Amino acid sequence: MKRLLFLLILSACDDVDGASSIQPETLTDTNPDPRIVEVELVATTATHEYLPGKPADVMAFKDGARTGAAPSIPGPLLEANLGDTVIVHFRNELSHATTIHWHGIRVPNAADGTPVSQMEVPPGGTYDYEFTAKDAGYFWYHPHMMGDVMIEAGLYAPIVVHDGLDLGVAADRAFVLDDVKLEASGKLSDKTDNLDLMLGRMGNVVLINGRQRPSITAAAGTRERWRFVTAANGRYFNLELPGQMFRVIGWDGGLLPAPYETSTLLIAPGERYDVLVEIGDQPLELRTLHYDRGHDIPDPGPITLLSIDVGSPGPPPGALPSSWGDVAPIPVSGTTPRRQLVLREDDTVPNLPVFTINDEAFPNITPVPGTMNQIEVWEVVNMAEMDHPFHLHGMSFQAVDASGAPVGPRGWKDTINVPQLETVRFAVRFDAPGRWMYHCHILEHAERGMMGELVVAP
Ligand code: C2O
Ligand code: CU
Repeated sequence: MKRLLFLLILSACDDVDGASSIQPETLTDTNPDPRIVEVELVATTATHEYLPGKPADVMAFKDGARTGAAPSIPGPLLEANLGDTVIVHFRNELSHATTIHWHGIRVPNAADGTPVSQMEVPPGGTYDYEFTAKDAGYFWYHPHMMGDVMIEAGLYAPIVVHDGLDLGVAADRAFVLDDVKLEASGKLSDKTDNLDLMLGRMGNVVLINGRQRPSITAAAGTRERWRFVTAANGRYFNLELPGQMFRVIGWDGGLLPAPYETSTLLIAPGERYDVLVEIGDQPLELRTLHYDRGHDIPDPGPITLLSIDVGSPGPPPGALPSSWGDVAPIPVSGTTPRRQLVLREDDTVPNLPVFTINDEAFPNITPVPGTMNQIEVWEVVNMAEMDHPFHLHGMSFQAVDASGAPVGPRGWKDTINVPQLETVRFAVRFDAPGRWMYHCHILEHAERGMMGELVVAP
């Protein structure tokens, strides 16, 4: 019943947008059990028109359970309710081996989709991923091999785990931010220069849900829920909605204990934000502003991502709930072990930059040992003149300061930006056994050494 209600609400939401919808399609749930979401996911080659009339060769996901489903960028949305069992039958139709990682979802190790947690899926091969949706929130999935190539080529897609909270919204939109480096022909550039390797490939075309500057229609006088993830190799998005505030209700691992308002929203590669936006009677523009992430990347000025037209009035938003996310603090004391991870870049050899953690470059690394339920404070020290977004698999963490006290709103993160020449600390409880990767989410950095492994003994 509850699920049926969700579907009704969601299809009502889709109508707001009508023909102009840029929402990815939801993967077909083939399992009649309302507590099980069972889907078929295919990675394949395809074409996609980033520039109108100029198809590019891409890699993309498609819904394997729906006959005639077209591959799309972003790939199809995986939707579940909190507590559901999720089963994904994955089929690799690419000519390369791959794996799928469920970024931010707390999965059993065998479902984590990295080359240290499973055998790679060869061309033509299959793999079944199974996990429980333990946290409500906004997540995403992508390959975890040759990420700088495969994610750039289009293999990324959003995941929504519904919390069942009634926020009186007229629409719940899943947005994926990206950029691509295109040739004049509209094809993806296959040239990787030193700057691409150093900074993470920066595209010349900026995308939201695979499109350049699309428009949507929102009903006047309503509230909408917008979810964002940055899937770009290197670009940071610094969103603004001139004349409007974002009310941030959640991020990576789910809802915050209380919302906060901000006029700009910085989203590093891999991070997610969940916000409410009040729609008035005037059109809006979503833009990204320059953010200085180091190495003198020039300021291109504001870039418009999305135009929001205002349609006829919709249902006025109701009161917001008085209680939000329940985020229990991870207890930290003076005796909680501290672990230092030092990030460095070495660009002495042209076109062969190396990025290290504690002076080791993956795969030649010493894994971090952990035992179940142990708590540590990780101090990520950035000795580079460039920001690095640090991502940990398997478990989420909470930002703390040098004394162990919480920094900013308490909330679950799995990806956190470590600004150039600064130190970021977080408290983490090792609550899942297995081999978990951690790495910079600038994909060129991860693929060139800035990656490590946490091994939690059962
Ligand atoms: Cu989004 Cu290890 O990755
Ligand atoms: Cu990095």
